[in-house]
Amino acid sequence: IDFDVVIRNGTVATASDVFAADVGIAGGKVVALGTGLALGRKEIDATGRLVLPGGVDSHCHIEEPAVGQVHNADTFASGTASAAAGGTTTVISFSQQVKGEGITQQLADYHIKAEQALIDYSFHIVISDPSPEVMAALPALIEQGHRSIKIFLTYDSVVLDDEQTLNVLALARQEGALVTVHAENHSAIKFLTNALEKAGLTLPKHHAWAKPMVVEREACHRVIALAELLDVPIQIFHVSGAEAAEEIRRAQNRGLKIFGETCPQYLMLTAEDLNRPNFEGAKFLCSPAPRTRADQEALWDYIRTGVLGIVSSDHAPNRFDDVHGKKVRGTDAPFSAIPNGVPGLATRLPILFSEGVGKGRIDLQTFVAITSTNPAKLFGIHPQKGTIAIGADADIAIWDPNKTVTIRNELLHHQVDYTVYEGVEVTGWPEITLSRGKVVVENGEIRGKPGDGRFLARGPYDAIKPLGRHVTPFDPVSGTLIDN
Ligand code: URP
Ligand code: ZN
Ligand code: ZN
Ligand code: ZN
Repeated sequence: IDFDVVIRNGTVATASDVFAADVGIAGGKVVALGTGLALGRKEIDATGRLVLPGGVDSHCHIEEPAVGQVHNADTFASGTASAAAGGTTTVISFSQQVKGEGITQQLADYHIKAEQALIDYSFHIVISDPSPEVMAALPALIEQGHRSIKIFLTYDSVVLDDEQTLNVLALARQEGALVTVHAENHSAIKFLTNALEKAGLTLPKHHAWAKPMVVEREACHRVIALAELLDVPIQIFHVSGAEAAEEIRRAQNRGLKIFGETCPQYLMLTAEDLNRPNFEGAKFLCSPAPRTRADQEALWDYIRTGVLGIVSSDHAPNRFDDVHGKKVRGTDAPFSAIPNGVPGLATRLPILFSEGVGKGRIDLQTFVAITSTNPAKLFGIHPQKGTIAIGADADIAIWDPNKTVTIRNELLHHQVDYTVYEGVEVTGWPEITLSRGKVVVENGEIRGKPGDGRFLARGPYDAIKPLGRHVTPFDPVSGTLIDN
């Protein structure tokens, strides 16, 4: 074979295996794994390096409409450059429905924006208003390869009630799409926020008081019950601690197809970070709120046992100050006026590698699984993405497992003006990232170009098939009696 690229003398790791091999790449795909491969037109020496599947970040907010003045500093060009700088080669971001508007044009607009991506991408469709018109438009969009829907159980601008949730779940089962859920109890949060504001308790740290674990645990339990009622698999986004994860574990133990995701911020931050001085706590404000040290360790346990199969970034590129240095959040904004979410596309893998593999909490294969293989499987892009195997896209990150880096915002290539990991030391860093065999990032320099990324249309796939298990002798989704 004629190789475009050979990655030589490295240690390849997948979700199941770790082995010494050269990787031969042609036509953007892995075409050979072995020792002593013939010369490639480009040779990359990976001696002493790990050769890993590029990360798949199945939860990141890129180029969404502004919330106030600050939301979404990243474009598809900057967001995907940042992802690649951190060893990620696929992003699944959101097509956000504006309440009262349709979804088809919005999605078309996101497709145009995403043409500036440096790496491959796909979309979850956010449904904030499941009107009859929107529900009628969805099947065609799912058929075109948008096989996942995000719903929110909180935030005024996007919240669905239980009946709307059931309608979306039913449609997803019929059309073959996965529903992913932001699970927090909206009414409870509103009540608590009002009460806190009346008492004058509006600092960033009070965000965690307005969103205690019980509001997340309740919403997880409720949406799992609704999914069970209709026999629909779901994924719960950004599980922040033990009690919410426990709801998922219980559902899984009962055989239900309930999938759970967490994010590095819930493994690294606690509610204490919201109380940093000089309004710095506002930088750490995300939903669900960061919890406790005990929750962090519980989340690692749930990762090890497979209950939480995916760790994504939930990259939310809210700047702290605007591009002119103006304090758009003020220095005393009430927590309810501060946009939620932290940036994290570039730091997701280095943090997980260092804190997970480096500190012995997970092995290398589990690292690959939770950051690449599992999200690729759950969202229907495996084995094209998420592994190093013959025929897979040559989306590869070459890591120096021993390189120690102090995280600085300047290293991250995003357009956010801060990182919650400023000054954190990590060991292990992706030095070279390839997307379909082409170098996108090399030693911190962006080599890829806007437009190199392609849309990943996702076909029907097994992970999201219903169980065929019904609560009553009547299946309310198909409207038929079950004979058994
Ligand atoms: O606080 C968060 N997570 N913001 C991003 C949007 C979301 O809810 O995922
Ligand atoms: Zn969310
Ligand atoms: Zn999110
Ligand atoms: Zn400005």
